[in-house]
Amino acid sequence: MDKVRITLLVDNQAAMPGLQTEHGLSFWIQRDADTVLFDTGASGAWAANAQTLGLPTDTIQHLVLSHGHRDHTGGIPEALQASPEARIYMHPKTLMPRYSLHPGMGPRPLGLPSASWKALTPYSDALRWSTAPMRLARDMGITGPILRRHPQESSSGPFFLDPEGRQTDPLEDDQALWIQTPEGLVIVLGCAHAGVANTLDHIREITGESRIRAVIGGIHLAKADQERLEFTAERIREAGVQEVQACHCTGESVALSMGYGWMRAGGSWET
Ligand SMILES: [Fe+2]
Ligand SMILES: [Fe+2]
Repeated sequence: MDKVRITLLVDNQAAMPGLQTEHGLSFWIQRDADTVLFDTGASGAWAANAQTLGLPTDTIQHLVLSHGHRDHTGGIPEALQASPEARIYMHPKTLMPRYSLHPGMGPRPLGLPSASWKALTPYSDALRWSTAPMRLARDMGITGPILRRHPQESSSGPFFLDPEGRQTDPLEDDQALWIQTPEGLVIVLGCAHAGVANTLDHIREITGESRIRAVIGGIHLAKADQERLEFTAERIREAGVQEVQACHCTGESVALSMGYGWMRAGGSWET
């Protein structure tokens, strides 16, 4: 039977000594012979950690970018250097300039770093643009843009397309990965800027599978208000999600208060 193993390569915290940490997210996903690198963190730290963990970085078949924020796209050069044959999946808006604006601070560029742009340029003809749901392999796919059914779920931050803060960034490029297993769907999130409830509904619709074995990744709740937290918790409960393993932008105390597991770099989940 197919085995799924998902390892958190890099994050703000590590589960063991000897691993680099950073504000960034990267997952190594192994499903039998299929190897996926889902996001690349903010730098090449994911590759150093993969080596420390004994994972063969030259065997990546699919490089999936959940969205363009630089804490997910900064390690693209190392990914393409290690596995130049990897297929690259991203939404065209992953490439857009974007900014965050916090009160009292100047605009902070949040888009794809220039070194990642440069590394992708020779592959421009080979990119697979995920403007719709796509399959990576048997029983495994990505969502493409996620329908925003629940207005309660915003993109969760002071995100803009211009440094003046005139145009809100709806993070249209945000996408998630799903794997169909005998026990239901395993869903991997980057930051879930589209909202986790929207993401679950979308994946259930495109796969026709209603059972959800696990949701793993960032849910972007660290700064959410009580109303949003309650809405999200309720939707996850109603969806019958068996297990949530959160990390990154979810916020550790929020995740634990909601009864979810908390993953650190080096940690793995498998079924
Ligand atoms: Fe993000
Ligand atoms: Fe992030």
